[in-house]
Amino acid sequence: MKRIAIFLSGRGSNMEAIRRHASTGILHDCCRIVLVFSQNPKAAGLQLASHAGLPILTLDRLGQGRASFYRQVYARLEPYFIDYIVLAGFMDILPSAFVQNYPRRIINIHPADTALHRGLGAYEWAFRTGRSETTITVHYVDEGVDTGPVIAQMRVDLTGVTTLAEVKNRGLNVEHQLYSRALREVFMGAA
Ligand code: GRF
Repeated sequence: MKRIAIFLSGRGSNMEAIRRHASTGILHDCCRIVLVFSQNPKAAGLQLASHAGLPILTLDRLGQGRASFYRQVYARLEPYFIDYIVLAGFMDILPSAFVQNYPRRIINIHPADTALHRGLGAYEWAFRTGRSETTITVHYVDEGVDTGPVIAQMRVDLTGVTTLAEVKNRGLNVEHQLYSRALREVFMGAA
């Protein structure tokens, strides 16, 4: 059983999907969520996690430098013996030193093909450019922004969409399936 920490900053719908898969779905025999962390004490996802009985940790940077803040985060994570960190809407850039503590053990989901679009606003980009499809990517985190090796991708059909909300809705439905499938492959040693 892999011990995972989920890092989030906002709504937490991917955390919730992974939680369900870990409790009764395709992840139930391969991982346990031992911590949900946020650098945003107001993240709605923390409420979801705490209602579900998951241990939560929140630390506010409060003007502290990024490097020293993430040294502190690392120290607070150590007692949990975490195998993998799963980023689920985590809106901060992890410093290199932190990433190097977890080589190929930090995973992220990005709502576009990372070869075509990196960084924020991926659904907005797909909508604005009128794409008939977009691609969700699960990847390992390296020291760049959305540049790490791809683990899995899945296409989202955008034909006929007329609003950004519809793009996001179709995309998130795919994210909630793809992320847990990809994590399973990693945890079972197949990716
Ligand atoms: C998702 O679209 C994810 O791909 C991106 O941030 C969003 C987070 O949504 N990295 P949620 O907080 O999991 O609902």
